[in-house]
Amino acid sequence: MGSVSLKIGDGTARFRRATFCSSAANILMLLSVIITNLFALYAFTYTNPTTHSTDAVRHSPNNISLVSEHVSLILKQIDASQKKLARMEKELLGYESIDLSRPNIAAELKLYLQPHPLPLGKDSRSGITEMASSVGHSCEKSVDLLTQFTTYKVSGPCPDDWSLGQKLILRGCEPLPRRRCLAKMVNKINVLHPFPSSLWKPVGDKMVQWSGLGCKSFSCLNSKQLSRDCVNCFNLTNGNENQRYVRARSKYDFLIDDVLSMGSAGIRLGFDVGGGGSGNFAARMAERNVTVVTATLNVDAPFSEFIAARGLFPLYLSLDHRFPFYDGVFDLIHAASGLDVGGRPEKLEFLMFDIDRVLRAGGLFWLDNFYCADEEKKKALTGLIEQFGYKKLKWVVGDRVDKAGKSQVYLSAILQKPVRV
Ligand SMILES: *[C@@H]1O[C@H](CO)[C@@H](O)[C@H](O)[C@H]1NC(C)=O
Ligand SMILES: *[C@@H]1O[C@H](CO)[C@@H](O)[C@H](O)[C@H]1NC(C)=O
Ligand SMILES: *[C@@H]1O[C@H](CO)[C@@H](O)[C@H](O)[C@H]1NC(C)=O
Repeated sequence: MGSVSLKIGDGTARFRRATFCSSAANILMLLSVIITNLFALYAFTYTNPTTHSTDAVRHSPNNISLVSEHVSLILKQIDASQKKLARMEKELLGYESIDLSRPNIAAELKLYLQPHPLPLGKDSRSGITEMASSVGHSCEKSVDLLTQFTTYKVSGPCPDDWSLGQKLILRGCEPLPRRRCLAKMVNKINVLHPFPSSLWKPVGDKMVQWSGLGCKSFSCLNSKQLSRDCVNCFNLTNGNENQRYVRARSKYDFLIDDVLSMGSAGIRLGFDVGGGGSGNFAARMAERNVTVVTATLNVDAPFSEFIAARGLFPLYLSLDHRFPFYDGVFDLIHAASGLDVGGRPEKLEFLMFDIDRVLRAGGLFWLDNFYCADEEKKKALTGLIEQFGYKKLKWVVGDRVDKAGKSQVYLSAILQKPVRV
Protein backbone atom coordinates (compact mmCIF):
# COMPACT_ATOMS: atom_id res chain seq x y z
CA MET A 1 0.00 0.00 0.00
CA GLY A 2 1.36 3.42 0.79
CA SER A 3 4.86 2.32 1.54
CA VAL A 4 7.98 2.55 -0.54
CA SER A 5 11.11 0.50 -0.06
CA LEU A 6 14.52 1.88 -0.72
CA LYS A 7 17.54 -0.36 -1.04
CA ILE A 8 20.32 0.89 1.15
CA GLY A 9 23.52 -1.08 1.31
CA ASP A 10 22.84 -4.64 2.30
CA GLY A 11 19.51 -3.92 3.88
CA THR A 12 16.21 -2.59 2.75
CA ALA A 13 14.98 0.47 4.49
CA ARG A 14 11.26 0.78 4.53
CA PHE A 15 9.68 4.14 4.71
CA ARG A 16 6.14 4.71 5.49
CA ARG A 17 4.34 7.39 3.60
CA ALA A 18 2.45 8.93 6.46
CA THR A 19 -0.47 10.46 4.59
CA PHE A 20 -1.79 7.53 2.61
CA CYS A 21 -0.92 4.75 4.94
CA SER A 22 -2.26 6.36 8.07
CA SER A 23 -5.45 7.40 6.34
CA ALA A 24 -5.94 3.79 5.29
CA ALA A 25 -5.35 2.73 8.87
CA ASN A 26 -7.80 5.38 10.06
CA ILE A 27 -10.48 4.14 7.71
CA LEU A 28 -9.93 0.64 9.02
CA MET A 29 -10.19 1.83 12.61
CA LEU A 30 -13.37 3.74 11.83
CA LEU A 31 -14.79 0.71 10.08
CA SER A 32 -13.89 -1.41 13.05
CA VAL A 33 -15.70 0.94 15.47
CA ILE A 34 -18.82 1.14 13.28
CA ILE A 35 -18.99 -2.61 12.75
CA THR A 36 -18.43 -3.30 16.43
CA ASN A 37 -21.24 -0.94 17.40
CA LEU A 38 -23.59 -2.31 14.79
CA PHE A 39 -22.82 -5.74 16.08
CA ALA A 40 -23.64 -4.74 19.62
CA LEU A 41 -26.85 -3.04 18.57
CA TYR A 42 -27.84 -6.06 16.55
CA ALA A 43 -27.09 -8.43 19.37
CA PHE A 44 -29.13 -6.38 21.84
CA THR A 45 -32.17 -5.92 19.63
CA TYR A 46 -32.25 -9.18 17.79
CA THR A 47 -34.49 -11.75 19.42
CA ASN A 48 -34.33 -15.27 18.29
CA PRO A 49 -37.57 -17.08 19.12
CA THR A 50 -35.76 -20.40 19.32
CA THR A 51 -33.25 -19.23 21.87
CA HIS A 52 -34.50 -20.06 25.27
CA SER A 53 -32.35 -17.57 27.15
CA THR A 54 -33.57 -14.61 25.03
CA ASP A 55 -37.12 -15.65 25.75
CA ALA A 56 -36.37 -15.88 29.41
CA VAL A 57 -34.89 -12.37 29.43
CA ARG A 58 -38.02 -11.01 27.77
CA HIS A 59 -40.32 -12.79 30.14
CA SER A 60 -38.41 -12.10 33.31
CA PRO A 61 -36.39 -8.94 32.65
CA ASN A 62 -35.26 -8.77 36.25
CA ASN A 63 -33.28 -12.00 36.18
CA ILE A 64 -29.82 -10.40 36.62
CA SER A 65 -27.78 -13.56 36.17
CA LEU A 66 -29.45 -14.16 32.83
CA VAL A 67 -28.82 -10.61 31.66
CA SER A 68 -25.16 -10.74 32.64
CA GLU A 69 -24.78 -14.07 30.91
CA HIS A 70 -26.21 -12.46 27.79
CA VAL A 71 -23.97 -9.43 28.05
CA SER A 72 -20.87 -11.55 28.40
CA LEU A 73 -21.90 -13.45 25.27
CA ILE A 74 -22.20 -10.17 23.37
CA LEU A 75 -18.82 -9.01 24.65
CA LYS A 76 -17.26 -12.24 23.46
CA GLN A 77 -18.70 -11.71 20.01
CA ILE A 78 -17.47 -8.12 19.90
CA ASP A 79 -14.03 -9.29 20.93
CA ALA A 80 -13.99 -11.93 18.19
CA SER A 81 -15.03 -9.44 15.52
CA GLN A 82 -12.40 -6.97 16.67
CA LYS A 83 -9.73 -9.64 16.45
CA LYS A 84 -10.90 -10.49 12.97
CA LEU A 85 -10.66 -6.86 11.93
CA ALA A 86 -7.18 -6.55 13.41
CA ARG A 87 -6.14 -9.58 11.40
CA MET A 88 -7.55 -8.06 8.21
CA GLU A 89 -5.77 -4.81 8.93
CA LYS A 90 -2.46 -6.56 9.41
CA GLU A 91 -2.86 -8.52 6.20
CA LEU A 92 -3.48 -5.27 4.36
CA LEU A 93 -0.35 -3.72 5.78
CA GLY A 94 1.94 -6.43 4.40
CA TYR A 95 5.16 -7.18 6.23
CA GLU A 96 3.99 -5.49 9.39
CA SER A 97 1.82 -8.55 9.70
CA ILE A 98 4.48 -9.96 11.98
CA ASP A 99 2.49 -9.85 15.15
CA LEU A 100 4.86 -8.37 17.67
CA SER A 101 2.34 -8.74 20.45
CA ARG A 102 2.49 -12.49 20.11
CA PRO A 103 3.99 -14.30 23.09
CA ASN A 104 7.56 -15.60 22.69
CA ILE A 105 8.64 -12.90 20.23
CA ALA A 106 12.25 -11.97 20.95
CA ALA A 107 12.58 -8.49 22.46
CA GLU A 108 15.48 -7.84 20.10
CA LEU A 109 13.22 -8.44 17.09
CA LYS A 110 10.62 -6.01 18.44
CA LEU A 111 13.28 -3.40 18.96
CA TYR A 112 14.69 -3.89 15.48
CA LEU A 113 11.33 -3.66 13.75
CA GLN A 114 10.00 -0.65 15.63
CA PRO A 115 9.54 2.28 13.27
CA HIS A 116 11.53 5.29 14.30
CA PRO A 117 10.76 8.90 13.43
CA LEU A 118 13.09 10.72 11.08
CA PRO A 119 15.50 12.85 13.14
CA LEU A 120 14.56 16.05 11.31
CA GLY A 121 10.84 15.39 11.16
CA LYS A 122 8.80 15.04 7.99
CA ASP A 123 10.81 14.86 4.79
CA SER A 124 9.27 17.54 2.61
CA ARG A 125 10.14 15.84 -0.68
CA SER A 126 8.80 12.37 0.05
CA GLY A 127 6.32 13.13 2.80
CA ILE A 128 7.93 10.38 4.86
CA THR A 129 7.84 10.83 8.62
CA GLU A 130 9.29 7.61 9.93
CA MET A 131 11.60 4.83 8.95
CA ALA A 132 11.36 1.16 9.71
CA SER A 133 13.97 -1.55 9.40
CA SER A 134 12.78 -4.31 7.18
CA VAL A 135 12.57 -8.04 7.29
CA GLY A 136 11.16 -10.33 4.61
CA HIS A 137 7.38 -10.58 4.76
CA SER A 138 7.58 -14.37 4.53
CA CYS A 139 9.32 -14.37 7.90
CA GLU A 140 5.78 -14.36 9.26
CA LYS A 141 5.55 -18.01 8.23
CA SER A 142 8.61 -18.89 10.31
CA VAL A 143 8.27 -16.63 13.33
CA ASP A 144 9.52 -19.31 15.68
CA LEU A 145 12.77 -19.68 13.74
CA LEU A 146 13.02 -15.91 13.45
CA THR A 147 12.64 -15.57 17.19
CA GLN A 148 15.36 -18.16 17.65
CA PHE A 149 17.53 -16.16 15.24
CA THR A 150 16.98 -12.93 17.16
CA THR A 151 17.56 -14.42 20.59
CA TYR A 152 21.15 -13.73 21.61
CA LYS A 153 23.13 -11.64 24.01
CA VAL A 154 23.51 -8.09 22.74
CA SER A 155 27.20 -7.30 22.09
CA GLY A 156 28.12 -10.89 22.83
CA PRO A 157 29.13 -13.60 20.38
CA CYS A 158 26.39 -14.65 17.95
CA PRO A 159 25.17 -18.21 18.34
CA ASP A 160 26.88 -20.57 15.90
CA ASP A 161 23.81 -20.61 13.70
CA TRP A 162 24.50 -19.41 10.16
CA SER A 163 22.57 -22.41 8.86
CA LEU A 164 19.52 -21.22 10.79
CA GLY A 165 19.75 -17.88 8.96
CA GLN A 166 20.04 -19.68 5.66
CA LYS A 167 17.10 -21.90 6.49
CA LEU A 168 15.04 -18.74 6.99
CA ILE A 169 16.27 -17.30 3.68
CA LEU A 170 15.33 -20.48 1.86
CA ARG A 171 11.84 -20.12 3.34
CA GLY A 172 11.57 -16.68 1.81
CA CYS A 173 12.50 -14.83 4.98
CA GLU A 174 14.80 -12.42 3.17
CA PRO A 175 16.16 -9.97 4.06
CA LEU A 176 16.98 -11.21 7.51
CA PRO A 177 16.95 -8.70 10.34
CA ARG A 178 20.27 -7.26 11.41
CA ARG A 179 21.69 -8.48 14.69
CA ARG A 180 23.73 -6.84 17.41
CA CYS A 181 26.12 -9.70 18.05
CA LEU A 182 29.55 -10.68 16.78
CA ALA A 183 29.51 -13.39 14.13
CA LYS A 184 31.67 -16.45 14.59
CA MET A 185 34.79 -16.32 12.45
CA VAL A 186 37.61 -18.63 11.58
CA ASN A 187 41.12 -17.38 11.90
CA LYS A 188 42.35 -16.69 8.40
CA ILE A 189 45.61 -15.01 9.29
CA ASN A 190 48.76 -16.46 7.63
CA VAL A 191 46.88 -18.19 4.85
CA LEU A 192 45.81 -15.40 2.48
CA HIS A 193 47.48 -15.64 -0.89
CA PRO A 194 47.98 -12.45 -2.89
CA PHE A 195 45.74 -11.84 -5.87
CA PRO A 196 45.79 -13.12 -8.60
CA SER A 197 47.74 -16.22 -7.52
CA SER A 198 44.96 -16.74 -4.95
CA LEU A 199 42.57 -17.62 -7.79
CA TRP A 200 43.82 -21.19 -8.16
CA LYS A 201 45.39 -21.88 -4.77
CA PRO A 202 43.63 -24.70 -2.93
CA VAL A 203 41.61 -23.46 0.02
CA GLY A 204 42.49 -25.20 3.27
CA ASP A 205 39.85 -26.94 5.34
CA LYS A 206 40.78 -24.70 8.26
CA MET A 207 39.88 -21.56 6.35
CA VAL A 208 36.13 -22.11 6.47
CA GLN A 209 33.52 -22.99 9.03
CA TRP A 210 32.03 -26.46 8.88
CA SER A 211 29.37 -26.15 11.54
CA GLY A 212 25.92 -26.96 10.23
CA LEU A 213 27.32 -28.89 7.25
CA GLY A 214 27.34 -32.63 6.59
CA CYS A 215 30.90 -32.64 5.27
CA LYS A 216 33.78 -31.38 7.37
CA SER A 217 36.40 -31.13 4.63
CA PHE A 218 36.75 -30.24 0.96
CA SER A 219 37.81 -33.76 0.03
CA CYS A 220 34.49 -34.95 1.47
CA LEU A 221 32.63 -32.36 -0.61
CA ASN A 222 34.56 -33.31 -3.72
CA SER A 223 33.37 -36.88 -3.44
CA LYS A 224 29.75 -35.73 -3.64
CA GLN A 225 27.60 -34.38 -6.43
CA LEU A 226 26.37 -31.20 -4.78
CA SER A 227 24.46 -29.97 -7.81
CA ARG A 228 24.41 -30.25 -11.57
CA ASP A 229 27.09 -27.57 -11.74
CA CYS A 230 29.19 -28.68 -8.82
CA VAL A 231 30.78 -32.08 -9.05
CA ASN A 232 34.28 -32.17 -7.59
CA CYS A 233 34.00 -28.40 -7.93
CA PHE A 234 36.25 -27.51 -5.01
CA ASN A 235 39.16 -29.31 -6.61
CA LEU A 236 41.07 -26.53 -8.35
CA THR A 237 44.13 -28.56 -9.27
CA ASN A 238 42.52 -31.35 -11.20
CA GLY A 239 39.28 -32.46 -12.72
CA ASN A 240 36.85 -30.51 -14.82
CA GLU A 241 36.97 -27.30 -12.91
CA ASN A 242 40.19 -25.78 -14.17
CA GLN A 243 39.28 -26.75 -17.73
CA ARG A 244 35.92 -25.07 -17.65
CA TYR A 245 35.47 -22.03 -19.87
CA VAL A 246 38.90 -22.52 -21.44
CA ARG A 247 38.42 -25.94 -23.02
CA ALA A 248 35.16 -27.19 -24.48
CA ARG A 249 33.92 -30.65 -23.51
CA SER A 250 30.85 -30.46 -25.72
CA LYS A 251 29.20 -28.13 -28.20
CA TYR A 252 27.30 -26.64 -25.26
CA ASP A 253 30.50 -25.31 -23.72
CA PHE A 254 31.53 -21.89 -24.96
CA LEU A 255 34.99 -20.47 -24.37
CA ILE A 256 35.41 -17.34 -22.35
CA ASP A 257 37.67 -15.67 -24.89
CA ASP A 258 35.16 -16.28 -27.69
CA VAL A 259 32.37 -14.79 -25.63
CA LEU A 260 34.42 -11.78 -24.58
CA SER A 261 35.18 -11.03 -28.22
CA MET A 262 31.43 -10.80 -28.88
CA GLY A 263 30.91 -7.98 -26.39
CA SER A 264 31.15 -5.18 -28.88
CA ALA A 265 31.39 -2.27 -26.43
CA GLY A 266 33.67 -4.14 -24.05
CA ILE A 267 33.02 -6.26 -21.00
CA ARG A 268 34.34 -5.12 -17.63
CA LEU A 269 31.68 -6.06 -15.14
CA GLY A 270 29.75 -9.32 -14.86
CA PHE A 271 27.29 -11.14 -12.65
CA ASP A 272 27.29 -14.91 -12.28
CA VAL A 273 23.84 -15.95 -11.19
CA GLY A 274 22.87 -19.52 -10.45
CA GLY A 275 26.32 -20.68 -11.52
CA GLY A 276 26.18 -23.11 -8.62
CA GLY A 277 29.92 -23.49 -8.53
CA SER A 278 32.95 -22.47 -6.58
CA GLY A 279 33.66 -19.26 -8.46
CA ASN A 280 35.56 -20.60 -11.46
CA PHE A 281 33.68 -18.41 -13.86
CA ALA A 282 34.63 -15.32 -11.87
CA ALA A 283 38.22 -16.60 -11.60
CA ARG A 284 38.62 -17.05 -15.35
CA MET A 285 37.09 -13.64 -15.87
CA ALA A 286 39.37 -12.08 -13.26
CA GLU A 287 42.35 -13.35 -15.24
CA ARG A 288 40.97 -11.29 -18.12
CA ASN A 289 40.50 -8.23 -15.92
CA VAL A 290 36.73 -8.60 -15.80
CA THR A 291 35.18 -8.20 -12.35
CA VAL A 292 32.46 -10.76 -11.70
CA VAL A 293 30.13 -10.93 -8.71
CA THR A 294 29.03 -14.50 -7.94
CA ALA A 295 25.61 -14.98 -6.38
CA THR A 296 25.70 -17.96 -4.06
CA LEU A 297 24.21 -19.40 -0.92
CA ASN A 298 25.95 -21.94 1.24
CA VAL A 299 23.71 -24.85 0.36
CA ASP A 300 25.49 -27.97 1.67
CA ALA A 301 28.91 -26.37 1.25
CA PRO A 302 30.82 -23.23 2.26
CA PHE A 303 30.62 -21.68 -1.22
CA SER A 304 30.74 -18.07 -0.03
CA GLU A 305 33.90 -18.48 2.00
CA PHE A 306 35.57 -20.56 -0.68
CA ILE A 307 34.90 -17.94 -3.35
CA ALA A 308 36.09 -15.16 -1.05
CA ALA A 309 39.25 -17.10 -0.19
CA ARG A 310 40.11 -17.05 -3.89
CA GLY A 311 39.91 -13.26 -3.86
CA LEU A 312 36.53 -13.19 -5.62
CA PHE A 313 33.28 -11.48 -4.69
CA PRO A 314 30.56 -13.77 -3.28
CA LEU A 315 27.08 -12.30 -3.03
CA TYR A 316 25.04 -14.12 -0.42
CA LEU A 317 21.59 -13.89 -1.94
CA SER A 318 18.83 -16.25 -2.99
CA LEU A 319 17.45 -16.02 -6.50
CA ASP A 320 14.03 -15.13 -5.10
CA HIS A 321 15.33 -11.77 -4.04
CA ARG A 322 15.39 -8.75 -6.33
CA PHE A 323 19.04 -8.22 -7.27
CA PRO A 324 20.58 -5.46 -5.16
CA PHE A 325 21.92 -3.64 -8.21
CA TYR A 326 20.71 -0.66 -10.11
CA ASP A 327 19.32 -0.99 -13.64
CA GLY A 328 21.69 -1.65 -16.52
CA VAL A 329 24.93 -1.89 -14.55
CA PHE A 330 26.33 -5.18 -15.90
CA ASP A 331 28.05 -5.86 -19.21
CA LEU A 332 27.61 -9.62 -18.88
CA ILE A 333 25.38 -12.01 -16.99
CA HIS A 334 26.25 -15.68 -16.81
CA ALA A 335 23.67 -18.23 -15.74
CA ALA A 336 23.68 -22.00 -15.53
CA SER A 337 21.24 -24.63 -14.37
CA GLY A 338 21.05 -23.05 -10.94
CA LEU A 339 18.77 -20.54 -12.62
CA ASP A 340 16.09 -23.19 -12.69
CA VAL A 341 13.86 -21.99 -9.89
CA GLY A 342 11.26 -24.67 -10.46
CA GLY A 343 7.67 -24.13 -9.49
CA ARG A 344 5.31 -21.98 -11.46
CA PRO A 345 6.42 -20.45 -14.78
CA GLU A 346 5.95 -16.90 -13.45
CA LYS A 347 8.82 -17.53 -11.05
CA LEU A 348 11.29 -17.86 -13.89
CA GLU A 349 9.66 -14.89 -15.56
CA PHE A 350 10.24 -12.64 -12.54
CA LEU A 351 13.85 -13.76 -12.48
CA MET A 352 14.37 -13.20 -16.21
CA PHE A 353 12.95 -9.70 -16.01
CA ASP A 354 15.33 -8.90 -13.16
CA ILE A 355 18.28 -10.25 -15.13
CA ASP A 356 17.19 -8.10 -18.05
CA ARG A 357 16.90 -5.10 -15.75
CA VAL A 358 20.46 -5.21 -14.41
CA LEU A 359 22.02 -5.92 -17.84
CA ARG A 360 22.98 -2.89 -19.90
CA ALA A 361 21.74 -2.43 -23.46
CA GLY A 362 24.16 -4.25 -25.72
CA GLY A 363 25.29 -6.44 -22.81
CA LEU A 364 25.51 -10.21 -23.06
CA PHE A 365 23.43 -12.88 -21.39
CA TRP A 366 25.26 -16.21 -21.35
CA LEU A 367 23.02 -19.18 -20.71
CA ASP A 368 25.45 -21.99 -19.98
CA ASN A 369 24.46 -25.65 -20.25
CA PHE A 370 20.99 -24.93 -19.00
CA TYR A 371 19.30 -28.21 -18.25
CA CYS A 372 15.71 -28.48 -19.41
CA ALA A 373 13.93 -31.38 -17.76
CA ASP A 374 11.85 -32.03 -20.88
CA GLU A 375 10.80 -30.67 -24.24
CA GLU A 376 7.96 -28.71 -22.68
CA LYS A 377 10.32 -26.93 -20.31
CA LYS A 378 12.62 -26.13 -23.19
CA LYS A 379 9.72 -24.61 -25.11
CA ALA A 380 8.66 -22.52 -22.13
CA LEU A 381 12.19 -21.27 -21.58
CA THR A 382 12.95 -20.43 -25.20
CA GLY A 383 9.55 -18.75 -25.52
CA LEU A 384 10.31 -16.65 -22.49
CA ILE A 385 13.78 -15.68 -23.74
CA GLU A 386 12.50 -14.80 -27.19
CA GLN A 387 9.94 -12.46 -25.70
CA PHE A 388 12.80 -10.14 -24.65
CA GLY A 389 13.96 -9.71 -28.23
CA TYR A 390 17.63 -10.49 -27.57
CA LYS A 391 19.90 -11.05 -30.53
CA LYS A 392 21.04 -14.68 -30.66
CA LEU A 393 24.80 -14.53 -31.12
CA LYS A 394 25.08 -18.22 -30.32
CA TRP A 395 22.30 -20.74 -29.76
CA VAL A 396 22.87 -24.44 -29.21
CA VAL A 397 20.03 -26.62 -28.06
CA GLY A 398 19.57 -30.35 -28.15
CA ASP A 399 19.99 -33.68 -26.48
CA ARG A 400 23.04 -34.75 -24.62
CA VAL A 401 23.55 -38.27 -23.41
CA ASP A 402 24.65 -38.42 -19.80
CA LYS A 403 26.91 -40.99 -18.16
CA ALA A 404 23.97 -43.27 -17.47
CA GLY A 405 23.07 -43.28 -21.16
CA LYS A 406 19.99 -41.11 -20.67
CA SER A 407 19.33 -38.34 -23.12
CA GLN A 408 18.81 -34.87 -21.65
CA VAL A 409 17.89 -31.55 -23.19
CA TYR A 410 20.39 -28.70 -22.79
CA LEU A 411 20.45 -25.13 -23.97
CA SER A 412 23.50 -22.89 -24.26
CA ALA A 413 23.23 -19.43 -25.72
CA ILE A 414 24.89 -16.05 -25.98
CA LEU A 415 22.25 -13.38 -26.24
CA GLN A 416 22.70 -9.68 -26.71
CA LYS A 417 20.30 -7.30 -25.03
CA PRO A 418 18.74 -4.95 -27.56
CA VAL A 419 18.58 -1.20 -27.25
CA ARG A 420 14.96 -0.42 -26.43
CA VAL A 421 13.40 2.95 -27.05
C1 LIG B 1 -33.00 -16.90 36.25
O1 LIG B 1 -32.48 -17.67 35.14
C2 LIG B 1 -31.74 -18.85 35.55
C3 LIG B 1 -31.16 -19.50 34.29
O2 LIG B 1 -32.10 -19.68 33.29
C4 LIG B 1 -32.69 -19.78 36.31
O3 LIG B 1 -31.96 -20.95 36.74
C5 LIG B 1 -33.26 -19.05 37.48
O4 LIG B 1 -34.23 -19.87 38.14
C6 LIG B 1 -33.97 -17.74 37.10
N1 LIG B 1 -34.40 -16.99 38.26
C7 LIG B 1 -35.55 -16.32 38.33
C8 LIG B 1 -35.77 -15.57 39.60
O5 LIG B 1 -36.35 -16.30 37.39
C1 LIG C 1 41.71 -33.36 -6.97
O1 LIG C 1 41.52 -34.41 -7.86
C2 LIG C 1 42.71 -35.20 -8.04
C3 LIG C 1 42.41 -36.26 -9.09
O2 LIG C 1 41.07 -36.64 -9.10
C4 LIG C 1 43.13 -35.81 -6.71
O3 LIG C 1 44.33 -36.53 -6.86
C5 LIG C 1 43.34 -34.70 -5.68
O4 LIG C 1 43.64 -35.24 -4.42
C6 LIG C 1 42.09 -33.86 -5.59
N1 LIG C 1 42.33 -32.74 -4.69
C7 LIG C 1 41.46 -32.39 -3.75
C8 LIG C 1 41.84 -31.20 -2.94
O5 LIG C 1 40.41 -32.99 -3.54
C1 LIG D 1 45.01 -7.11 -17.04
O1 LIG D 1 45.52 -5.93 -16.46
C2 LIG D 1 46.90 -5.94 -16.23
C3 LIG D 1 47.26 -4.67 -15.49
O2 LIG D 1 46.67 -3.55 -16.08
C4 LIG D 1 47.64 -6.07 -17.56
O3 LIG D 1 49.01 -6.11 -17.35
C5 LIG D 1 47.16 -7.36 -18.24
O4 LIG D 1 47.75 -7.47 -19.53
C6 LIG D 1 45.67 -7.40 -18.38
N1 LIG D 1 45.25 -8.71 -18.85
C7 LIG D 1 44.40 -8.87 -19.84
C8 LIG D 1 44.11 -10.30 -20.22
O5 LIG D 1 43.87 -7.96 -20.43
